[in-house]
Amino acid sequence: MNYETLKSKFEKDGYVVINNFFDENDVEKLKNAGLKLTQNVPNEAKTVFKTSQNNQEISSYFMESCDKIGYFYEKDALDENGDLLVDQSIALNKVGHALHRLEPTFEAYTYNDKVSNICRALGLIRPTVVQSMYIYKNPGIGGEVVAHQDSTFLHTEPDSLVGFWIALDDSTIENGCLWVIPGTHKNDVHQKLVCDPKNKSRNQTIFQGTFPDYEQSAFVPVPVKKSGLVIIHGRIIHKSDHNKSQLSRHAYTFHVYDEASSQYSDKNWLQTKIGFKSLYL
Ligand code: FE2
Repeated sequence: MNYETLKSKFEKDGYVVINNFFDENDVEKLKNAGLKLTQNVPNEAKTVFKTSQNNQEISSYFMESCDKIGYFYEKDALDENGDLLVDQSIALNKVGHALHRLEPTFEAYTYNDKVSNICRALGLIRPTVVQSMYIYKNPGIGGEVVAHQDSTFLHTEPDSLVGFWIALDDSTIENGCLWVIPGTHKNDVHQKLVCDPKNKSRNQTIFQGTFPDYEQSAFVPVPVKKSGLVIIHGRIIHKSDHNKSQLSRHAYTFHVYDEASSQYSDKNWLQTKIGFKSLYL
């Protein structure tokens, strides 16, 4: 796909699929790095996520993960004592949100010429990475993600958020691929997650605005083969289902915004202390 086609498709639909974005070797390296993370989960992560824990503690752990490698369990992976109900290797929902700065494999495939070229094609002047996540969506336990816009969680003025979603397994309807409503990026950001102005410690967030009901029949699946990239606009409505299959649906995802043409909101939950770094070095 040439640059012009990519940009016009992205502007029309709000998402673009690029097959074979990375080669098999690269995908293997990313997947191995993701699996290695499952072997290094600190005990603190379990304590925080046992179901009897209060929301305040979960919220603080989440907020602090913006400049760290934070580990987040599937809700059905732990019992009320924080003991594992499934094997550790399939218990995580995701790891985030600073893999692109703190873990060399993820850094190498984020700050990467292929990624920069996509940003150039989209016309971003100074694309800056704000967060990264390894998503596991493991067989049987990988939970659903309800319809949302990514710009709800990371807003800039004007909105310039773009998500990169790299399939590390074949992503199918059965194992919980992305579903989108094409063209919905032309709508506003319906809801914004902001730090609660009443809470001075900034460790609580609230939603402002209302998320409308979208017809489930309007969603189209976006299956993508292992090594494919899905570029998603920050405002496109998307979701993914529970993984009911026997196969994992791992993905590496990160978000960029254009630092040259928009302002990152100081009300966002994610406030970096180490600073954001542009893709164009
Ligand atoms: Fe999303």
